[in-house]
Amino acid sequence: MPTKSFFHGADWNPEQWPEPVWAQDLALMREARVTAATVGVFSWSRLEPSPGVYDFGWLDRVLDGLHAHGIDAVLATPTASPPPWFTQAHPDALALRRDGVRLVHGSRDTYCVNAPAYRAASLGIASALAERYARHPAVRLWHVHNEYGTWCFCDHCARAFRGWLRERHGTLDALNDAWTTDFWSQRYADWAQVLPPRATQYLGNPAQELDYRRFLSDRMLAAYTAQRDAIKQVAPQAQVTTNFVLGGWVPVDHARWSTEVDLVAIDHYPSSLDGAPAQSAFAADAARGWSAAAGRGGRWLLMEHAPAHVTEDGVQRRKPPGMLARIALAHIARGSAGAMYFQWRASAGGAEQWHSALVGHAGPDTRTYREFRALGENLATEGRAPSYRSAYRKVPFPTDDACAAGDAEVHEAGCGDVAVWFDEVCGWGVGASHLPAPVDYQGIVEDWHRALWLRGHHVDVVPPAATLAGYRVLVVPAAYLLSDESARSLDEYVHEGGHLVVTYLSGIVDEHLRVRGGGYPGALRDLLGIRVEEFDPLPPGAVVTLDTGDVATGWTEHLTAPRAAVLARYPDGRPAVTRREYGAGVAYYVSCALDEASTARLLEGICAAAGASPIVPGLPDGVEAVHTPDGVWLFNHTDEPHEVAGRQLPPGAVARLAD
Ligand code: GAL
Repeated sequence: MPTKSFFHGADWNPEQWPEPVWAQDLALMREARVTAATVGVFSWSRLEPSPGVYDFGWLDRVLDGLHAHGIDAVLATPTASPPPWFTQAHPDALALRRDGVRLVHGSRDTYCVNAPAYRAASLGIASALAERYARHPAVRLWHVHNEYGTWCFCDHCARAFRGWLRERHGTLDALNDAWTTDFWSQRYADWAQVLPPRATQYLGNPAQELDYRRFLSDRMLAAYTAQRDAIKQVAPQAQVTTNFVLGGWVPVDHARWSTEVDLVAIDHYPSSLDGAPAQSAFAADAARGWSAAAGRGGRWLLMEHAPAHVTEDGVQRRKPPGMLARIALAHIARGSAGAMYFQWRASAGGAEQWHSALVGHAGPDTRTYREFRALGENLATEGRAPSYRSAYRKVPFPTDDACAAGDAEVHEAGCGDVAVWFDEVCGWGVGASHLPAPVDYQGIVEDWHRALWLRGHHVDVVPPAATLAGYRVLVVPAAYLLSDESARSLDEYVHEGGHLVVTYLSGIVDEHLRVRGGGYPGALRDLLGIRVEEFDPLPPGAVVTLDTGDVATGWTEHLTAPRAAVLARYPDGRPAVTRREYGAGVAYYVSCALDEASTARLLEGICAAAGASPIVPGLPDGVEAVHTPDGVWLFNHTDEPHEVAGRQLPPGAVARLAD
């Protein structure tokens, strides 16, 4: 049945409402052709009102109700928000902030992932849910926890951190070396002296900070896999995931986690209304890239996004008419198995009572609900949604073989022309380091992605583990931290014929944030045929015009180009942008932060030389083109009509080019 093919639904919190409202909700869901509802995300205090005492009656009725209405459940484990009885009994399991303040319950995510009591209690509730519901016919997907990413600096963490460090570094000498502890007299003489990076007098140790993020990521992953394995022990065929939240503040290495989930799932909340289409495309391309590199076939799911608004500088800006469906379909075109929302019904009270919902405080008679219902009708109609891979309609979850085959499909689908390198661990390294100027790693990566997106390229966002062969152009922006292995794979990529664009601040430090000497970028100097002597960041607002007319902002460098041709020079004649032929390929170096127009010009030339063509040439600004096996889909994100390849696109339209 086609209505089952896409995930079309939302987080549903029936425990916040009397049961007669559930019946209304289910009827409305059916009317809107909802295929899936996420339930139980924050229900721990209802499911286990006191230690070891479970109340599953209400969830039985919720799941039965969903099933009776032909709606699948995405069943969550509620471990992101332990109940008050838990924290009262185990004060040591409350999160300790960096500055030593012990948090108390009253919000959510107030727990220490390394506290034995927390781990035991969360495994307890997850196992109890698995026992009861693993074979429930409504359950299509398990959603462990919610947006892992909680920080803690307590003594449980300190102990576990030491154990993790011993495994990673082996000896204290190796740790001292990796963390450069001779700087500021930090040399450790005993493991007991090693602490989490708690509040200290002045700048902390960047390598310690980076290892702590890696450690938290690994520990949270272990907490996730423990729950996943408990579920699979009861139901080996169960499909299990957790919802990733993107953002540099989260100590979770999503590329690595993607190998442990059955379906990569992300939540996405853009930070500006006008920027939402480009930001959504970036997040979607990143999710697809994680999935493909993890052998999951490029398949992924948008688990949450906001129905009616985008929060911009603290202001909830309403989505204009049509945007709800357009953004959902754009995600689906980029490989999502559907588009889920947070949330179904707006809460009457509680911290997020003003968050938008599909059914708002006014009830279903609103533009948002009507648009959502129309989207449901669209998705339920075979052939009217841009399916990234038509197999989605038939096979809810690919087998391992299909995943392996799917990896190839990502390239075959025409999405393999151009890629942008994105490594969250590198972003952590940038964040931990006291750089010569503030640097927003993800912002820089998104700028390069956006430049390609605006020009109508279908871009893959790839983690370091990705297979690079097959991309005509690969952009590596601000890859400050680059392992030897990554440097080798970039070398091989160019040698084999790839066109590599490396930007300033790439290849500077190793995985312990130690500078690679001899001239920047130590890891890529030979490949690029250049040598950077010094950085020369610009003050805010300053610009430098290159001899090509291109404009540099923010960052410049002093470099020589002993083995590369110079494509653009700074006013004093020094090289700014270089090009080196290497093996069968070409390696470009961009030593400055170019403005948007200059970036676009540069990329246009590089892509043309590499034979990487836009999906649709000459795309107007704000019109998005996505290449799917169902053909090219166009999304007019503007409120103007446009003509694209002979096709009239009314304002806000979504259309297939061939139709
Ligand atoms: C998500 C979270 C949801 C809800 C939402 C609000 O990050 O998973 O529970 O808080 O944000 O935008």
